[in-house]
Amino acid sequence: MKHFLTLLDIPANDLENLTQRAIELKTMQHHGEIFEPLKNKVMAMIFDKSSTRTRVSFETAMSQFGGHAIFLSPRDTQLGRGEPVEDSARVLSSMVNVIMIRTFSHEMVEMFAKYSTVPVINALTDLYHPCQLLADMQAYNEHRGNIKGKTVSWIGDGNNMCHSYINAARQFDFKLNIATPKGYEPDAAIIKAAGDRISLTTDPQEAVEGSDLIATDVWASMGQEEEQKIREKAFSGYQVNTELMQLANKDAVFTHCLPAHRGEEVSATIMDSPQSIVWTAAENRLHSQKALLEYLLVK
Ligand code: CP
Ligand code: NVA
Repeated sequence: MKHFLTLLDIPANDLENLTQRAIELKTMQHHGEIFEPLKNKVMAMIFDKSSTRTRVSFETAMSQFGGHAIFLSPRDTQLGRGEPVEDSARVLSSMVNVIMIRTFSHEMVEMFAKYSTVPVINALTDLYHPCQLLADMQAYNEHRGNIKGKTVSWIGDGNNMCHSYINAARQFDFKLNIATPKGYEPDAAIIKAAGDRISLTTDPQEAVEGSDLIATDVWASMGQEEEQKIREKAFSGYQVNTELMQLANKDAVFTHCLPAHRGEEVSATIMDSPQSIVWTAAENRLHSQKALLEYLLVK
């Protein structure tokens, strides 16, 4: 039984195959092919934070695969009233086939996985967002080919997305330049584990030089709303815009996990430019998570 709590949970080779499988599943779906490998299988979806893409992509994936998904919010579950995580994990996993969790604490998901008898998928914690990376890696592959040996730059907050990019650099074998303001660096242990694939700077211009993919994310993540104003100040100068993109390689592309704030971390021009692969990456949440579900439940 396999869980997917971080990108390190799936061997690099399998991740490569998973990307290829996601591309295949995308073609099948675009051709209207019916494929139902998860008939009668049920997914429980625990959401302690808001979501558009994650909820819709997992629910749609389960429906198209012939299964079913149950949306659970803390407002109307006993988990939300303090029932222990271990007990919830035991009970839910005795009824469903796979459990997806979006919450604050990464330790909560680890604890849940420890007591679950079915695969647990991390659908975003304060520490990581591995599902988004499956979609981003597929999108890069579709637009520019294999990312192995390429250079990626992460501009902005050293947050959950940045941490998953660091893990992706290890697993998909690319170099990652990270530019954050002082005090907003990614977790030191996560950086250390990635070794010399990662370089850190406070200068976004230095980071994008020679880059093939530029990625960013909001300056204030879910749970940090009250820091919005302080962060806007700290991150001014970290916007991905035309001037910054011009310093990257000629055929560089841009991505963002969404939701995006045009005029803050990314200019409207770049979001809506031909260099932007954000819409491909967003759609790929569906296809790459189907590949993930197949990997966890069918193979
Ligand atoms: N990118 C992403 O996870 O989007 P949602 O918050 O809408 O799920
Ligand atoms: N870093 C953002 C990602 C949203 C998909 C957050 O955690 O809110």
